[in-house]
Amino acid sequence: MSKKGKLFLMVPAAMVLVAAAMITGCAQSSTGPPGLSITREIPENETDSAVWGKYYPSQYSSYLKNKEESKTEYGGSVRESKLDEFPYLRQLFAGMGFGEDYNEERGHTYSLIDIREINAKRKPGGTCMTCKSTEVPGLIKKLGVKYYSMPFDEVSKLVKHPIGCLDCHDPKTMALRVTRPAFIEAMRRRGKDVTQASRQELRQYVCAQCHNEYYFHKQSKEVDHPWDNGFEPEDAEKYYNDKKFTDWIHPKSGAEMLKVQHPEWEHNYGGTHYTAGVTCSDCHMPYIREGASKVSSHWWTSPLKTMDQSCGVCHREGNDWLKSRVLNTQKRTQELLDTAGNDIVVAINAIEKAGKSPDVDRKRLADARNLHRRAQFYWDWVSAENSTGFHNPQGAMHSLGKAIDLARQAQVAASQAAANLR
Ligand code: HEC
Ligand code: HEC
Ligand code: HEC
Ligand code: HEC
Repeated sequence: MSKKGKLFLMVPAAMVLVAAAMITGCAQSSTGPPGLSITREIPENETDSAVWGKYYPSQYSSYLKNKEESKTEYGGSVRESKLDEFPYLRQLFAGMGFGEDYNEERGHTYSLIDIREINAKRKPGGTCMTCKSTEVPGLIKKLGVKYYSMPFDEVSKLVKHPIGCLDCHDPKTMALRVTRPAFIEAMRRRGKDVTQASRQELRQYVCAQCHNEYYFHKQSKEVDHPWDNGFEPEDAEKYYNDKKFTDWIHPKSGAEMLKVQHPEWEHNYGGTHYTAGVTCSDCHMPYIREGASKVSSHWWTSPLKTMDQSCGVCHREGNDWLKSRVLNTQKRTQELLDTAGNDIVVAINAIEKAGKSPDVDRKRLADARNLHRRAQFYWDWVSAENSTGFHNPQGAMHSLGKAIDLARQAQVAASQAAANLR
């Protein structure tokens, strides 16, 4: 059968599934997950996932799999240095923590260990703990906004559990819910009350509350999200420009830089799957067989390890064909990431050189610096996102195309500034 024929067959099947999920989703919004009878209530504010595990052993045993360390071609759960893998990152992040210590992410059960071990320059305050421990929403309730500006080590002493059950479930009903105040507030500003969301919406909001782009308010160190204009990188850029926000000054180019943080939620938002109604949980938490019953996998990892369960529900093309499509997207994305990254390094060097020339055209130099800020922002939007393009192939190509163009413009502006043509 031709590929076109396959796609035609697949789409109605997927639509029916998604539609069915949406219907049950609305009906179940305020009660617990479908088919689950609650026998005993978990103590309120129970932060130890092992206690939840006594009531829900199947979900807990899959949660413990987050300890597993293994790799895929472009993803994986092994803490390896990105700086060694892509040496140009040291140039791009010069003068800030990511230029000294930047690793591949791994499973949820490592979140506390990894944040504690990372270079102190990466941790301006307790605020960095916000998405690393299931105890944080409780701390914010107790301490108020003061929590965010406390020194990291002080907050670290107050917590002992990594990401866990309490982050996504109401212990009374087991219904899904979001717990991160900054996410709730930023979505409220967009006119969306996520505390009233449907089950289907929550199947991505529970992930979106941490897997997103954020920044810290300069004084209070409160976490916030740049979503007032929308979820595209252009919307975030405008938000930061309007606020005159800068993360750090690049020591070589002198540009006022922005650091992007894992925008999985925003990047996925405009992608093929999101638009078709597919949620993070459909791929990353598929139903798995546990003895006689089927439960949602709580092993948050690369879905390429569980393609039968993660993709086979909707796709009929077969795993080999599907995987080759994923790798095709990732290979092309990585190639353009490297091209854009190296182009920005060339721009940085040109701007540095221009800055040292005594009769430099100051105005043109300022243009070059602004172009550096912009190029690196669009590159980082894809680089910091963890699917190497898969969540939104067209979005990734669009951002990287812009990044390459802006980097070239920065080089031209730097040479013109140095030559002082006026
Ligand atoms: C259509 C299926 C699908 C959906 C929907 C989806 N993902 Fe993914 N995700 C993938 C695939 C495939 C990869 C690439 C894995 C790899 O490279 O091994 C990935 C990679 C990731 C990674 C990096 C994993 C690693 O091993 O490095 C994270 C984190 C992630 N996704 C989070 C999310 C979040 C959060 C959402 C929702 C906002 C989401 N995903 C929606 C399929 C999906
Ligand atoms: C990152 C968010 C998240 C965390 C953390 C989490 N869950 Fe879940 N859980 C989900 C999602 C999403 C579902 C699917 C619910 C649905 O579709 O209604 C789910 C479903 C469940 C269900 C319903 C039955 C099923 O398997 O679908 C149980 C029980 C459950 N989780 C227990 C736990 C336990 C125990 C922990 C801690 C060890 C935990 N969960 C941690 C997101 C999470
Ligand atoms: C409380 C914050 C939080 C929530 C909620 C959350 N994540 Fe994560 N997630 C993280 C952090 C932090 C890491 C990186 C941990 C590390 O590297 O130590 C991570 C890592 C991951 C990874 C990479 C695992 C690997 O092996 O490389 C995947 C995939 C992932 N999350 C998917 C999800 C999905 C899907 C959801 C929703 C069902 C979700 N996460 C909800 C904070 C969160
Ligand atoms: C809940 C249903 C659902 C699940 C689960 C799902 N997909 Fe899809 N997928 C779709 C739909 C719908 C489309 C859009 C089809 C179209 O319009 O051509 C699509 C399109 C695609 C495409 C082509 C477009 C693109 O963005 O590259 C690829 C490749 C793909 N899916 C791979 C995967 C992989 C790999 C997984 C598992 C990790 C997966 N899908 C899981 C429903 C799903």
